[in-house]
Amino acid sequence: MNQDELKRAAAMAALDYVIDGEIVGVGTGSTANHFIDGLAGIKDRIQGAVASSEASARRLAGHGIRLFDLNDVPAMPVYVDGADEIDGGLSMIKGGGGALTREKIVAAVAERFVCICDASKQVATLGRFPLPVEVIPMARAQVTRALTALGGTPRLREGFVTDNGNLILDVHGLSISDPMGLESEIDHIAGVVCNGLFARRGADVLLLAAAEGVQRVTRN
Ligand code: A5P
Repeated sequence: MNQDELKRAAAMAALDYVIDGEIVGVGTGSTANHFIDGLAGIKDRIQGAVASSEASARRLAGHGIRLFDLNDVPAMPVYVDGADEIDGGLSMIKGGGGALTREKIVAAVAERFVCICDASKQVATLGRFPLPVEVIPMARAQVTRALTALGGTPRLREGFVTDNGNLILDVHGLSISDPMGLESEIDHIAGVVCNGLFARRGADVLLLAAAEGVQRVTRN
């Protein structure tokens, strides 16, 4: 199986976690797109979905899946999304697609985060994938200096504006031994909207697709 087939296999396995009659939180990216396409096949069994990006909202709507505003949804049983890296404690780096802030918000409302990945995303230590940080435009230089002081090399994602009208700095060169601590530290830099470390609220279940099949890993 190629990487896209593995992403699809992980996404299809996540359909088992969808609860009949409920609203589903839906992530962003190529793996989440496979999940959305799978969800279309069972759309009559769910109330609808909350999307974590404009792109996912368009794809869901294209399948005729009803969209809910998160402000009208006090709780949902499950959020399904991909990741750029995931470690053994089910902490993740996300935001390669730039949707990290909305992803973190929707995930915060869900009882269970189901992460869908091909095996290439599993790492021993987070940080080889550049850490995305969403930044208010006027704070770009200030946040760049602060992230450099933390030991990273931030690079502006050229020509990219988030769904929230902000910029992304991709931070290279971090070896992240304390994902929870670094997540908090970066969030406290003035001008940072959100960073792509999902450690304080990591995944509860990882569906990891490899040639041998889809492995299910749960948080200890
Ligand atoms: C989107 O902003 C990201 O968090 C994605 O969930 C992540 O980049 C994984 O994307 P793929 O499924 O396309 O690899």
